[in-house]
Amino acid sequence: MPVVSAKGMLVDAAVHAYAVGAFNVTNIIQMEAVIETAVERRAPVIIQTSMTPTKFLRPEVLVAAFRALAAPAPVPACLHLDHCTDAAYARHCADLGYTNIMFDGSKLDFEENVRVTREVVEHCHRLGDITVEGELGTVSGVEDQVRVAENEAELCDPARSREYVERTGVDLFAPAIGTAHGVYLTENPKIDFERFARIQEIVNGNGIVAPLIVHGGTGLKPEVVRRLVALGGAKFNVSTDLKLASIDATYEYITAHRTEYNPGKIDSAAKQAVIARVSYWMDLLGCAGKAP
Ligand code: 13P
Repeated sequence: MPVVSAKGMLVDAAVHAYAVGAFNVTNIIQMEAVIETAVERRAPVIIQTSMTPTKFLRPEVLVAAFRALAAPAPVPACLHLDHCTDAAYARHCADLGYTNIMFDGSKLDFEENVRVTREVVEHCHRLGDITVEGELGTVSGVEDQVRVAENEAELCDPARSREYVERTGVDLFAPAIGTAHGVYLTENPKIDFERFARIQEIVNGNGIVAPLIVHGGTGLKPEVVRRLVALGGAKFNVSTDLKLASIDATYEYITAHRTEYNPGKIDSAAKQAVIARVSYWMDLLGCAGKAP
């Protein structure tokens, strides 16, 4: 299956009321785990890297590894740059072969967010089928370099969402609706479902223009996830969950095998833990079995 951009994949998800899992990885083993699970579960899939692991591993290495793994896989797959706050770096990753870019201008004022996001969109679209995700409002918590305190978080104003999508030309739209990056601090985070439904109606009510994205998947209860999918959430971002699984499995393996010095076995334990979580999410989101 050719490597694809995210828009077509997510329009199909929005039309058929399922969501695609977008999994943040910090190394190649996790990338392998996600793609192997997608093949096993016959699910379309999005691999994401935030800026710190992208810079650490280098985008050209990540693109090469992604293409080597995804090109022969019989499922559609995208490589997405997540929460990029630097427009020049976003353009650089698009030039190198990322298939989807999130420019995060959520900390800029509205006009500046529109202006810079528009520039990134124009660059990506000039290159070909590279799609762009934009965000309006701010998601609380910590995702890589983007930190937003709970009292700073600002939900997306539905009245401005269509203007934002039209003026920027973004292909995918991430409205802040009360989900948070990282582990939720309360058992029942306040998710504004009505706001999400209103935004879906305003942006995609007359046909899917920009599929809606949900950030902060980790820790959401299954019924919350299902409700957001039913309301139009087409891409669910999951990061912390995979980090916890990978680190816990590594720690447990080393603790149980303190005198064994075999990195491959440690990697394998971490990989299996990631596979289990990705599989859980693919079932929950309804994307298992949806690869054409
Ligand atoms: P979590 O770390 O809460 O799963 O959020 C992931 C995310 O939204 C990445 O953009």
